[in-house]
Amino acid sequence: MQITFAILVALLQFATTVSAVHGRHWRRAQHGNAGNASCTVTCFDDIAKVKGRCTSITIGDLEVPAGKTLDLTKLKDGTSVLFTGLVTFGYKPWAGPLVSVSGTNIIVTGKPGHLLDGGGARWWDGKGSNGGKTKPKFFFARSLTSSVLKGLNIRNTPVHCFSIGGSKDLLIDSVTIDNKDGDKGDLGHNTDGFDVGSSSGIIINNATVYNQDDCLAINSGRNITFTNGYCSGGHGLSIGSVGNRADNVVQDVLISSSTVVNSAQALRIKTIHGATGSVSNITYSNIKLAGITKYGIVIQQDYLNGSPTGEPTAGVPIKHVTFSRVTGTLATGAKNKYILCASCSNFNFSNVKLVSATGLPPKSVCKGAPSGVPC
Ligand SMILES: *[C@@H]1O[C@H](CO)[C@@H](O)[C@H](O)[C@H]1NC(C)=O
Ligand SMILES: *[C@@H]1O[C@H](CO)[C@@H](O)[C@H](O)[C@H]1NC(C)=O
Ligand SMILES: *[C@@H]1O[C@H](CO)[C@@H](O)[C@H](O)[C@H]1NC(C)=O
Ligand SMILES: *[C@@H]1O[C@H](CO)[C@@H](O)[C@H](O)[C@H]1NC(C)=O
Ligand SMILES: *[C@@H]1O[C@H](CO)[C@@H](O)[C@H](O)[C@H]1NC(C)=O
Repeated sequence: MQITFAILVALLQFATTVSAVHGRHWRRAQHGNAGNASCTVTCFDDIAKVKGRCTSITIGDLEVPAGKTLDLTKLKDGTSVLFTGLVTFGYKPWAGPLVSVSGTNIIVTGKPGHLLDGGGARWWDGKGSNGGKTKPKFFFARSLTSSVLKGLNIRNTPVHCFSIGGSKDLLIDSVTIDNKDGDKGDLGHNTDGFDVGSSSGIIINNATVYNQDDCLAINSGRNITFTNGYCSGGHGLSIGSVGNRADNVVQDVLISSSTVVNSAQALRIKTIHGATGSVSNITYSNIKLAGITKYGIVIQQDYLNGSPTGEPTAGVPIKHVTFSRVTGTLATGAKNKYILCASCSNFNFSNVKLVSATGLPPKSVCKGAPSGVPC
């Protein structure tokens, strides 16, 4: 991992040098070999032209037309992409995505000062993906292997931001997602930060997310790490809902050294009522919370169509779960834990200390809690 990262850092420095090359239209720099050119993009039509032939692509100010994807899929092996300017998107009710990247050994970097602005307010109607206008997902990171997304600044996504699927060994480092504007009038909804499915070897490090839904939601996948993150305004760091998809296994997840503030809940594992699958080897460690309004920790096996049924089922067992060093404060009226289990086992809570704003110990609501969960 370290050797790979050193090579990637060297490539990033190379990409930064190349970014000095600007032009009205894309052009190849002199030092590129045939088929390995450095190219700069300033208008949308250039993207299709550079994709097959450039391995170093710089994207400056760019307007992506309504209903079109900034399509960086199937990049040449080893391509680096550098965003240097303001990228905006035309308005159309459609499913998106607005940006899509795929390939192997790809490095996508944002230069300080750049911005990918989703202009989400044009779609926001308080209904998210459950109705109203059709809203485009923002960023597909699908079939992305041994790759890095680094330093990206994203603002105001219409609905979900990153959709990570079918990816392997992907590092997402120092990404900021700022959907604070969606708090106005409660119009932003289902603005998940990172949704992960059927992927392995995913590391999300040093992310900052202001939104109105899950900061992280892992629906399936293995060997996934979220660390040094900051989540504000949403629904916290979640596994699930697991079940009723093609892949319903989540295992080997580490969520550590992160902060969750002003959110409905902080840490949550949800499985779907009547579904099958499994959730195992999940660790939440060294998590700080503040201003949590409903529940600090939630484990529930009763989800259906996005809502709780109140009836947990055992088809997606949750096993080998550790919560260690989880500390902080809950807002007045919030509960410490909500546990609703039909099949939860081998839980280990150590140094979980949540206090309410009033100083009273916050209550828990527990049904079917395994031994190891103090209720
Ligand atoms: C492009 O770069 C790759 C990796 O550095 C190298 O293996 C390949 O031979 C180069 N292709 C050309 C046409 O120069
Ligand atoms: C973490 O990300 C922020 C951008 O959100 C960046 O300014 C900072 O340098 C990053 N920290 C590290 C240690 O990479
Ligand atoms: C987990 O993912 C990391 C990051 O890609 C990788 O370095 C490591 O080898 C993987 N571990 C296993 C057991 O697959
Ligand atoms: C549990 O997951 C962690 C990654 O979070 C991994 O390092 C460890 O090997 C896994 N344990 C088992 C028993 O598979
Ligand atoms: C529970 O987790 C803590 C922290 O990781 C660890 O020190 C302890 O040994 C674990 N207890 C059991 C019974 O596994």
